[in-house]
Amino acid sequence: MRAFAIAILLTLAACGSPEAPSSGSQAPAAQAPNAAAMQAAITALPAPYNEASYEAGRRVFAQCRSCHVIQEGAPHRVGPNLHGVFGREIGTSQGFTYSQAVQDADFVWDADHLDHWLQNPQTFLPGNRMAFAGVRDETQRRDLIAYLMVEADK
Ligand code: HEC
Repeated sequence: MRAFAIAILLTLAACGSPEAPSSGSQAPAAQAPNAAAMQAAITALPAPYNEASYEAGRRVFAQCRSCHVIQEGAPHRVGPNLHGVFGREIGTSQGFTYSQAVQDADFVWDADHLDHWLQNPQTFLPGNRMAFAGVRDETQRRDLIAYLMVEADK
């Protein structure tokens, strides 16, 4: 365990040079103070999302991360970048090629639509290409959507 910690410290030290990309080495340290500010942002959301846990939402988002980023301007992965998704017409994240099912759908993303999509993407919009079983737990979806609301508009 201690050897592992030392290895991490050495890795961080090695990344500390000015030429190294800063995002990797900054991420762990930046998280803690940030989380308190983010939780404060959550209390300003409409009910029931104002009762959500930012930290719990962040953990649920781990299920999405292999396919989605949410930072502004970050490149798409298997799925589209989710930045600015609230208030946006479905299937319109620039530069992403959506399935026909998504292209044919016609609504604007809000918490309600997202709640149904995330519960079971295939029954909500048959034929879409998001290979994800869904988040069945209501509280987890609430926390996740609140997390997305805060992160998508940063
Ligand atoms: C296995 C990869 C994968 C995972 C995991 C995944 N998605 Fe997706 N997601 C996609 C793909 C691919 C699309 C585009 C679907 C299409 O075009 O039919 C998509 C589309 C979306 C859209 C519609 C975006 C738009 O621009 O209209 C939202 C919202 C979304 N995903 C949210 C999530 C969230 C939140 C999670 C985690 C709970 C998640 N996804 C997990 C691959 C994934």
